[in-house]
Amino acid sequence: MQIDGSTALVTGANRGLGRHLTEQLIARGATVYAAARNPDRIDVPGAVPIQLDVTDRASIAAAAAQTRGVSIVVNNAGSFTGAGLVDGDRDDLELEMRTHYFGPLDVIRAFNPQLAAHERSAILNVLSVLSWVSYPGYTGYSAAKSAAWSLTNGVRGELVAQQTQVSALHVGYMDTDMVAHVDVAKSDPALVAAIALDGLESGELEVLADDMARAVRTNLAGGVAALYPELLRPAA
Ligand SMILES: NC(=O)c1ccc[n+]([C@@H]2O[C@H](COP(=O)([O-])OP(=O)(O)OC[C@H]3O[C@@H](n4cnc5c(N)ncnc54)[C@H](OP(=O)(O)O)[C@@H]3O)[C@@H](O)[C@H]2O)c1
Repeated sequence: MQIDGSTALVTGANRGLGRHLTEQLIARGATVYAAARNPDRIDVPGAVPIQLDVTDRASIAAAAAQTRGVSIVVNNAGSFTGAGLVDGDRDDLELEMRTHYFGPLDVIRAFNPQLAAHERSAILNVLSVLSWVSYPGYTGYSAAKSAAWSLTNGVRGELVAQQTQVSALHVGYMDTDMVAHVDVAKSDPALVAAIALDGLESGELEVLADDMARAVRTNLAGGVAALYPELLRPAA
């Protein structure tokens, strides 16, 4: 998918990875609708701010009605509640699903008429290694990111005839506000954005942005035993 000369929509464009994607899409020659819950927070030079809350269908419809010629949709917006599946707050679990599954789904449905109007178009869904594995502390978020992975694969097949490329970005920890509380090695979101856009441009359907994504992807072939070795060890 050629970025130069295209028009892109990026959700959650005001900070974190979304801000880097917006900056770099513009640097690569795209016109970018930078969508945010509060568009006043968009400060990327050259971006076109637009209001869009991915959990609010009316706001998505209004954003689609205000935009023209979008050929690249980047579903980036995300949040992390930390809710656990068994005893986490039920509303938080629904929020994870609304943000990571229904949000991107509604954005795709609303913007698909614009995508379909182009000979070629693309969707980039920002997923995670947690689309593939789930650990205590991250389970509600993981379930939603798994749903987003299935969404990505399903939409890819449905839109192949209209030549819309549907790509997934899988990444481990990135140095953004979302995981500021976690003390681990993290990827530079600017580098992740560059890898994601290189992948988008070269037609990759599954972009693996860091070593953690590559390792977990490899372990998928080994099933539960490879993904969760600690669960197979007898309790001490
Ligand atoms: N950070 C990581 O380690 C990591 C790893 C793998 C995947 N990811 C994924 O990467 C993506 C970007 O996250 P990030 O790391 O850049 O986090 P971040 O710095 O916390 O930024 C999250 C962005 O999403 C926006 N957002 C949240 N809920 C929204 C909603 N309902 N409607 C519209 N925008 C909303 C936020 O807007 P406000 O400013 O209005 O809150 C913000 O712009 C997410 O999909 C996340 O799940 C992150």
